[in-house]
Amino acid sequence: MRTVDLIQRKRNGEELSPEEITWLVESYSRGEIPDYQMSAFLMAVYFQAMTDHEVGAMVESIIASGERLDLSSVPGPKVDKHSTGGVGDKTSLIAAPLAAAAGVKVPMISGRALGHTGGTLDKLESIPGFRTNLSIDEFKDVLSRTGYAVVGQSDNITPADGKLYALRDATGTVESTALIAASIMSKKLAMGLDALVLDVKVGAGAFMKRQIDARRLAQLMTTIARRADLRAQALITDMNQPLGYAIGNALEIMEVSQTLQGAGPDDLAIISIELAARMIFLGKITATLEEARELAQNKLIDGSGFRKLKETIAAQGGNPQVLDRFELLPNATGAMEITSPRGGYVSAIDAEEIGLASAMIGAGRDTKEDTIDPAVGVILEVKVGQKIDAGGVLCRLYFTKEDRLQEAAERVEDAFRISATAPEPRELILEVVS
Ligand code: URA
Repeated sequence: MRTVDLIQRKRNGEELSPEEITWLVESYSRGEIPDYQMSAFLMAVYFQAMTDHEVGAMVESIIASGERLDLSSVPGPKVDKHSTGGVGDKTSLIAAPLAAAAGVKVPMISGRALGHTGGTLDKLESIPGFRTNLSIDEFKDVLSRTGYAVVGQSDNITPADGKLYALRDATGTVESTALIAASIMSKKLAMGLDALVLDVKVGAGAFMKRQIDARRLAQLMTTIARRADLRAQALITDMNQPLGYAIGNALEIMEVSQTLQGAGPDDLAIISIELAARMIFLGKITATLEEARELAQNKLIDGSGFRKLKETIAAQGGNPQVLDRFELLPNATGAMEITSPRGGYVSAIDAEEIGLASAMIGAGRDTKEDTIDPAVGVILEVKVGQKIDAGGVLCRLYFTKEDRLQEAAERVEDAFRISATAPEPRELILEVVS
């Protein structure tokens, strides 16, 4: 087989065979196909898409690049949750401990911040001592002991996804339904799950800007899951404005702590409880979804979700006291207020712009090699629909360096729309796909 022939055929809109897809992924993983050819192939996929068969072959070959975990030694239903990526999206850190407190085992494989979106691994690593590079044995041990363990994609688990994702991020080929589905589902299927809840984000701050594309992605991922005998449901949720008020790694850990203690923002709590409920229901802990919702809510109210997160933090080497004493988290050295130029209603907060501004001051990465500044980010003071006076504070930027602060502040200012009339309220959970 010649790589150039496969690139040309995909460029012309032809379907490649499973053998051809497998050969491409395997050869690229082994370093036998150079980045420039794989980039051209990915761009051809971006424009021409892939059939379900091609995506299926890609998923299988990415899984085969590493190990498939066998979690049969860990008793209980194994259920994970995955988001397609958003701004201020810290639902994993709330839904997973709630579900684990209800008896689900959550073997979570999470990602890092890329582009304007945040990553669960970076958020957790803002906790002093927290380790995300557990060996497979350590991972199983934490999962057995606490019911919730978190790792990243590694040399053992779907290494081909790590390589492909870095290349996609550098070549403008992230926003492809087929490639996102293959990337997410290969990681999830490698983890030996019984069920999976997907949170497909749609809107300004998501990779999928249109509901029709989000639906197609949700359908593709649930189809892949069904073919692999994995129970799965996908929620399509709004990502036009950031979720909650906090954007940035340590800042988001603080908001997770508040939410697990019943004092978090409504939008974040609503989506997190719904995701936890579906994890509980798909894990067959309850007979109905309604009972699962009640159970998830109770685990929030009685503080057991909060205690569960502390157990996992301690089991992975972190200091669980950070959830009570925020001064133990990395703290920014300066804060800059962004105020409203006029009075009115906040009619939009562009989540992508807020995510990019936050990344610009250090909360995210421009390239995979960049290091994160865990202390920095943005705290919103208003959400869409709220009234604001001229000169009222819209948000604060928390920073440790002033390098790109001004540029970030301008971006943040532009992200807010103020109108004379109140906007129509938007639904948070738009659709369920199963
Ligand atoms: N999350 C992933 O793991 N992969 C993607 O391609 C996009 C979001």
